[in-house]
Amino acid sequence: MTRQEFHQRCIPYFSADEIQAFWLWFQHLASSEQVEDCMQRLLAGEPIQYIFGTAPFHRYEYRVGPGCLIPRPETEELVEYILQHPQIQALQHWLDIGTGSGCIALTLVQERPWQLLAVDCSEAALTHARNNRARLNTEQQKRLELRCSDFLKWTEWPSGVQALVSNPPYISSDETLDSRVVDWEPSTALFAENDPLIFYKKMAQLCLNRPHELWLFLEINQQLPEATEAVFKTIGCSTKKIADLSGNLRFIEAYWPGF
Ligand SMILES: C[S@@+](CC[C@H](N)C(=O)[O-])C[C@H]1O[C@@H](n2cnc3c(N)ncnc32)[C@H](O)[C@@H]1O
Repeated sequence: MTRQEFHQRCIPYFSADEIQAFWLWFQHLASSEQVEDCMQRLLAGEPIQYIFGTAPFHRYEYRVGPGCLIPRPETEELVEYILQHPQIQALQHWLDIGTGSGCIALTLVQERPWQLLAVDCSEAALTHARNNRARLNTEQQKRLELRCSDFLKWTEWPSGVQALVSNPPYISSDETLDSRVVDWEPSTALFAENDPLIFYKKMAQLCLNRPHELWLFLEINQQLPEATEAVFKTIGCSTKKIADLSGNLRFIEAYWPGF
């Protein structure tokens, strides 16, 4: 298919920028049958990352597919923030809550000599995370434990954990999302039951029983930066709101001092 034909078929559905980006993905396809198959899926609304089974994240490519959230560029910014943070590089034991494809945990374990425990309640998502872990070297694989677990049922933090990172579900049911997101990506990855702050409140509740310090690095709902920060401030954490590259307050760093 020529670039012009590709453009003409896509133009009723996508912006010029999207078509340009999609065209680059299609350059990897060898046969015209593959091109046609992928084209049909694209025009049916399937995300390009699911069609090709891969998504870029930081300096890596991770396998993705239905059942796990497609890693977002904003989440890369959270990882980069952690990697550059001057006070936490010596912390060894990290937790990733809601790991999905594993993009955050896998990146940290490749970039730093840390031990990671990454949990998710979705076996479908963990299948992708396990596939991604299998592509690491043996030493890195040993430092990353993947576990199926419902965080909202936890009664305490896992022993030894010193810091956590999480991009939990934080969309409320009345927010409108692009149909390509809602129709294709898992709702358990997006929507936070009846309360967009439920995961943050659970983290704060667990901190209250914890005598040791804990660092938390969290992606948050950009509509709720103050309310999310208040969850941690009210229990005695020091907090910092962090803007993403578009200027939205998208992340929170919280430090629980212990007691
Ligand atoms: C927004 S996605 C983030 C995925 C990945 N960390 C990322 O940043 O691309 C949230 C993840 O949390 C998981 N999740 C939802 N509820 C959970 C729960 N109660 N306990 C553990 N994980 C949960 C979902 O399955 C999903 O993989």
